[in-house]
Amino acid sequence: MKNAFSIKGTLNAHSDIPGDKSISHRALILSAFASSKSQIKGLNQGLDLLKTRQALESIGCYFQDEGPELISYGYPPILQSPSSSIFLGNSGTSARLLTGVFSALPVMLTLTGDASLSQRPMDRVVIPLQLMGAKIQAATGKFLPIKIKGAPLNPIRYEIPVPSAQLKSALLLAGMLTKGTTKIIEEVPTRDHTERLMSYFGIPLTIKDKEISISGLAPYQGKHIFIPGDPSAAAFFVVAALITPHSHLFLKGISWNPLRNQVFTVLQQMGGKIHVTNPRIVCGEPVADIEVFSSTLYGIETLSSQAPQLIDEFPILSIAAACAQGESIFRGLGELRFKESDRLHAIHYNLSQCGYVVRIQGDDLYILGQSNRPKHNLKIDTFGDHRIAMSFEIFGLLHPGRMKIDSKEMIQTSFPSFYQCLEHLKISPSR
Ligand code: S3P
Repeated sequence: MKNAFSIKGTLNAHSDIPGDKSISHRALILSAFASSKSQIKGLNQGLDLLKTRQALESIGCYFQDEGPELISYGYPPILQSPSSSIFLGNSGTSARLLTGVFSALPVMLTLTGDASLSQRPMDRVVIPLQLMGAKIQAATGKFLPIKIKGAPLNPIRYEIPVPSAQLKSALLLAGMLTKGTTKIIEEVPTRDHTERLMSYFGIPLTIKDKEISISGLAPYQGKHIFIPGDPSAAAFFVVAALITPHSHLFLKGISWNPLRNQVFTVLQQMGGKIHVTNPRIVCGEPVADIEVFSSTLYGIETLSSQAPQLIDEFPILSIAAACAQGESIFRGLGELRFKESDRLHAIHYNLSQCGYVVRIQGDDLYILGQSNRPKHNLKIDTFGDHRIAMSFEIFGLLHPGRMKIDSKEMIQTSFPSFYQCLEHLKISPSR
């Protein structure tokens, strides 16, 4: 560790840490169908959000950048069908949420994506939308391209078979645009940003135990929306500070949504010195500031029931586990196989390449911490996945000059300012 960098300083939401990606998608979509103008502050500037914005623009929605804010003009006077297909790049959230939206609107269009997105399962949204009467067709019933001939849908009562916030949100959005009451039952809780933002807009939504009910076609007014910092983005730097020596980091204005902040609880249970201050509610979402110090970490076991709430953080948690004393077991990671890459394989492959003792058993991942040190000139295969790329860049702080990721390009999808943040905080080992 004696050559490792230190991490020191402060990262602020928006100027440093991007606005939460999930809330940003929902803010664009919900504001686009309000009956008056909305002002959105702190929108994530990644490519994925650009894809959602462009898709909405292609049917006639109108947005305008005004300094640090985005103005969304609300329900377009005329909806149009785009003349060419809508390319959603790498963005699974755009693909799933917009399939729900467009199915219920009078538009005809085709959604496409890049090679990775085209291999991700879309049947989980297509099947229930077809039950609502949607005229949609996915390639081999499962994948993009999806052809949509939008038309009025029928409400359904549907128990979602996989814990997926994208699936839940696609159906809630379709329900919002459908006459009658749509009911979604969610056995395992997943991120609830759609529900919170709908309630903030005044859209009639009720939650009773595991059942979410939405009454469709109720007009609602535009709002001022302030998006907190993305906790999944913040987690890279929290782990950076924990695993590097003499580090001390402040993060301000980060989402403290209880279905998103579990990564910080797990890191605290691993021995991480993480203090949370100034908890507050902003536009219906919990927000807090975080202070982090270098820490000795210990192995941990997480359960399958925790996986949906840690789903985007397993790559960076695996780096924490590799630096911890003892073994970590992350259980129930089957859904990781369907992310921007097969993340279970990507983590296993790269940590094994670095010489660590790692194994996958069923859907569980075992990592023996501190079981090796990377060799020189180690090439990390990101598999075109932004979170794998950022996780191994953070790991590289411990091994300056000894490991290199194969491509940085995909980081633009969610965290365009990642390298600026890193440079701003990195204190050279020789200082
Ligand atoms: C997201 C939900 C999660 C997450 C993705 C964003 C969302 O996907 O992995 O990065 O914004 O709803 P699933 O709901 O498919 O697990």
